[in-house]
Amino acid sequence: MKKVEAIIRPSKLKAVQRGLKEAEIPCITVVPVKGTGLQTSYSERYRGTEQSMILHSRVMIICVISDNHLEKCIDVIKKNASENKVGDGKIFIYNVEDAIRLSTGVQGNDAII
Ligand SMILES: Nc1ncnc2c1ncn2[C@@H]1O[C@H](COP(=O)(O)OP(=O)(O)OP(=O)(O)O)[C@@H](O)[C@H]1O
Ligand SMILES: [Mg+2]
Repeated sequence: MKKVEAIIRPSKLKAVQRGLKEAEIPCITVVPVKGTGLQTSYSERYRGTEQSMILHSRVMIICVISDNHLEKCIDVIKKNASENKVGDGKIFIYNVEDAIRLSTGVQGNDAII
C-alpha cells in the first residue's frame, strides 16, 4: 500500500478529484494547507511581509491506495494539476504498513479498494 500526498493549487482540486474517481480511486482526504516551495531569493516587502516569507494557499490531497493503483494515481494528478509553471505543487509518496476498515474489521489491501 502507498500513501500519496499531493500539494496542489486549490483551483485544480475539482479536476483532480474527478480524474481520480474516473480512475477508480474514489477515496481521498483533502486538507487546506499553506506553504512555500523553492522561491526566488529576492526579498521585497509586500504589505509589510517579506516576499520570501509569504505562505501560499494550497490543498493537500491524501490517498491511500494499493501498489497497483500508484502509477495511475500519479498520472491523474500530474495531468490535472499542472500548468507547467513554478508553484504547481509536489507529490510525495510513502509506504503504508496497514489499513483497517472500521465498519467490517477487514484489514490490508481489502480495506482500501
Ligand atoms: N520539500 C517540501 N516539503 C514540504 N512541502 C513542500 C515541499 N516542497 C513544496 N512543498 C509544498 O508544496 C507547495 C507548492 O510547492 P512548489 O510547487 O512551489 O514547489 P517548488 O519546489 O518551489 O517548485 P516550483 O519550481 O514548481 O515552484 C508549497 O507551497 C508547499 O506547501
Ligand atoms: Mg515554488
